[in-house]
Amino acid sequence: MTSPDSLASTGLDSAQLADSEIPAGADPFVLFAQWLAEAQQSEINDPNAMALATATPDGAPSVRMVLLKGHGAEEGADYGVIGGGFTFFTNAGSRKGGEIRANMQASLLFHWKSLRRQVRIEGPLTEVSPARADAYFHSRPYKSQVGSAASDQSRPLDTRQTYIDRVKAIWAKHQEEGRVPRPSEWTGFTLSPQRIEFWRDRDNRLHDRRLFTLTGAGDALGWSDTLLYP
Ligand SMILES: Cc1cc2nc3c(=O)[nH]c(=O)nc-3n(C[C@H](O)[C@H](O)[C@H](O)COP(=O)(O)O)c2cc1C
Repeated sequence: MTSPDSLASTGLDSAQLADSEIPAGADPFVLFAQWLAEAQQSEINDPNAMALATATPDGAPSVRMVLLKGHGAEEGADYGVIGGGFTFFTNAGSRKGGEIRANMQASLLFHWKSLRRQVRIEGPLTEVSPARADAYFHSRPYKSQVGSAASDQSRPLDTRQTYIDRVKAIWAKHQEEGRVPRPSEWTGFTLSPQRIEFWRDRDNRLHDRRLFTLTGAGDALGWSDTLLYP
């Protein structure tokens, strides 16, 4: 067997040659929460920003950024999600919403540049309950509620002024009560992960990857994991 010492001549140091730092047998929800907490300390903004990839039923993909608003092994349990998940909110009348409604699966990608890490997550989607959508919509500042309600997200807009006029009208209409009714198309989705892959940069392309795959069903749901070549 080749010992690290004998590789000194290659210029590779002990950090690159060390064993994987992504623990085998980890609970991927717990590991994700740790990595997100570290990103919250080091990213300059939006550590919860993630790329959301959707696709049409005939396989044409599209991707955009959204914010993660809930995660963990209990996520979505109150509206029937089994095994936990990752939740985002959006206007379902949008392009992504149309693709999701027609093909309820997605892929999420986090890239934390400050940590040189990425996490890839894939699986089917469940729409959040109306109560959850209401709770999140009304947890946002009044200004954000107005901006969302005024937006026919992703549909053509003739002039910016049209949108501003809608913002002003909705603002004035609900100013007294300080909250805007949640638009019917405004909702959220929870992705039930079937694959979660953790990736850490190492110099000289000796990156560290571990893939967690959902196994079993019902009460016997669990995770298996394997390293992947980088
Ligand atoms: C950092 C960041 C976070 C965003 N968060 C959200 C979000 O949580 N929900 C959302 O609908 N759009 C969010 N957007 C806007 C989307 O990227 C996108 O422009 C919009 O949802 C329309 O996408 P679509 O036309 O594919 O439906 C965010 C954009 C950025 C850059």
